[in-house]
Amino acid sequence: MGTDTTENGATENSTDKNKVENGMAESNNWVCVLEDSSQLKPLQIMEWVESNPAAGRPPKEVVVWRSESGEVCAMEPRCPHQWSHLGNEGLVVGEEMICVTHFWAFEKNGCGWKENEAGRRDRKSDIEVFPCKEEDGGIFVQL
Ligand code: FES
Repeated sequence: MGTDTTENGATENSTDKNKVENGMAESNNWVCVLEDSSQLKPLQIMEWVESNPAAGRPPKEVVVWRSESGEVCAMEPRCPHQWSHLGNEGLVVGEEMICVTHFWAFEKNGCGWKENEAGRRDRKSDIEVFPCKEEDGGIFVQL
């Protein structure tokens, strides 16, 4: 694990930098976004917004959803295409989040796709996903 110094003198861990570059943000800040995980059923989406952000910065926000197979996923709420909010314009289909504005699909690892009328899937922009776990009956996201 290496440490890099940025232009402003701050240091950053190269492992963390790689995770960010791969669309996976990580910190030590695990947040309980739902105390009773059974409230999020397969194919459901919930929005979570930080209630008390630090002064001067906007609240953190994520959408958390459960796939048809039962896995939970937390991701950036805004679609990277034209910024639709997945809490309103999102639909879980199988193991993917679909942005119904123009039907881009996002896998649980954040990979973006668009399927054409003939069924060919083309890569599109990825969306940021956050580590997510079910523990002690709740859902936790690492922000
Ligand atoms: S805004 Fe989401 S697919 Fe276009």
